[in-house]
Amino acid sequence: MDVADLANGDRGAHVEDLQGIVDEIYHALTPRLGEGKVADYIPQLAHVDPHKLGIAVVGVDGGVYKAGDCDEAFSIQSISKVFTLTLALGKHGENVWKRVGREPSGSAFNSIVQLEHEEGKPRNPFINAGAIAVSDLVLAGHTPREAIGEIVRFVQYLADDEQIAIDPAVAKSELATGYRNFALANFMRGFGKLDHPVDHVLGVYFHHCALAMTCAQLARSGLFLAAAGRNPLTGHTVVSRQRARRINALMLTCGHYDGSGDFAYRVGLPGKSGVGGGILAVAPGKASMAVWSPGLNHNGNSLLGSLALEMLAHRTGWSVFGP
Ligand code: DON
Repeated sequence: MDVADLANGDRGAHVEDLQGIVDEIYHALTPRLGEGKVADYIPQLAHVDPHKLGIAVVGVDGGVYKAGDCDEAFSIQSISKVFTLTLALGKHGENVWKRVGREPSGSAFNSIVQLEHEEGKPRNPFINAGAIAVSDLVLAGHTPREAIGEIVRFVQYLADDEQIAIDPAVAKSELATGYRNFALANFMRGFGKLDHPVDHVLGVYFHHCALAMTCAQLARSGLFLAAAGRNPLTGHTVVSRQRARRINALMLTCGHYDGSGDFAYRVGLPGKSGVGGGILAVAPGKASMAVWSPGLNHNGNSLLGSLALEMLAHRTGWSVFGP
């Protein structure tokens, strides 16, 4: 089904029959389940059933709209980089930007090419090198175990759910095969850009990437970004309004690697993808949403997940660029 087929006239902040829209998108995409390529460079992820599709939308008013495999936990992978960046900004403030840039990379998430030209300072906090630099910042003053515990508790606090945990098999699988990440981290350490030993920093990085969450939990954890820094469900102020706006800006420009322009063009929302097939997207002032479908496109972003968000943004008129 073409996205245009799903268009309707209701494009205000309040969306009529959002559950109906979510159901319709799920059913429109069901015939395509299994499309795309499941990430297999992390052996544990290669076992995931490609025929999964989950959608969860949580409105800033607390309304929850879900379809499909929205309550099944999956590996959030790079989506966790939004949470570690938020933590690092809380600890180090603007000093974070001395260690990592804020520009789109235009290259793959695990590319090493720019790192040499830019002397070990990664382009942005969402490519692997940038997130490794952020893990180094989160480690400051902690053992790796403490830093991992702090990240897990932070995500539990954001989602208001103490059940959220790391999948140790995924963390172990990545530790055993993360040759490129070791190369990136060693390279940065060689430039004097990491304060802690490479195995400590990567221990933190691999574990936060191995967080397992459902679409519903993920959508709740992103709600503070949709509501000017404050989670309206818990009443907790997580970050300032300005910081929420800035994290959203980074998600929009860098959240899908060298597919960020295409995602902005098609969906028009700040979003962050992971190779587990999840995407967290934020409609500021309206809702936080998460989708999951393990088959990836050529940029390593969920194929059906991107399509589901494209349909959702179109039907709701939620694109930040206008309805
Ligand atoms: O380091 C890695 O390669 C993975 N733990 C995370 C990569 C990822 O999710 C890229 N996203 N599309």
